[in-house]
Amino acid sequence: MDTFNQARTAFDRHVAGFRDADGSLPFALEAKFNHTGEVCEITERIIAGEARFSPRDTLIFRLCALFHDISRFEQYDKFRTFLDRASFDHGDRSAALIDELGLVPELPAEDRACIIDAVRVHNKFAIPADLPPAHLAAAKMVRDADKLAILRLIIRFFNGDCSDPTIRLDLPDTPDWTPAILETALSGKCVRYTDMKCINDFKLGLFAWSCDLNYPASAALALDEDLFGRVRVLLPASDGIDALLVSARTRLAKLRDKEA
Ligand SMILES: [Fe+2]
Repeated sequence: MDTFNQARTAFDRHVAGFRDADGSLPFALEAKFNHTGEVCEITERIIAGEARFSPRDTLIFRLCALFHDISRFEQYDKFRTFLDRASFDHGDRSAALIDELGLVPELPAEDRACIIDAVRVHNKFAIPADLPPAHLAAAKMVRDADKLAILRLIIRFFNGDCSDPTIRLDLPDTPDWTPAILETALSGKCVRYTDMKCINDFKLGLFAWSCDLNYPASAALALDEDLFGRVRVLLPASDGIDALLVSARTRLAKLRDKEA
């Protein structure tokens, strides 16, 4: 068995510890299990779209996708929440679990260090400045794939295609939005959850993610699937919001067409 399939088996064995007697996962954990599968799938698509990574890099990226949320099972089991502030930082804990569970023991120490770093920073507000440059490509890859998977999930959620226990919005669903949030999103800055006053603010905040993708193939996927256009139609009619979509699409097209 190759390294990835061995890792997949180890991952599945870990997840099996959280299954009920009939083999099923609690609904919330099933959603996280599926999210990992989607991040793996998107990672493959970005790798294929970039067509410039070595077999070593490719294996590291695939393992980062597989392990990035591995602590979610323990998090929910112990705390009944996916809120990091009410439990633990799931990026830090997932990174620690790679060592604790002895995952991918056959990999060179530097490759394991790279995976552990990328997993640790995947959920941080920004990539820490002190991350070793050799670990940047993996950190950027898992962050891109995770964001794209979450965008897809949020769109499915708002279209009523899934009831997802991992999306928790403690915001009122009013028909308005906060002008200052639209301004922040238009300037390409990240909108903080604590500044949001309603669900439309949350949707506006998603546009800032178009500034935080790293790979041309990630931008291509976002454009091909029209992820931001599909968020736009979830919001009220407004010239300002139309302008937000135009700026997101322009930014993505620029990244997509950038020379690798
Ligand atoms: Fe995560």
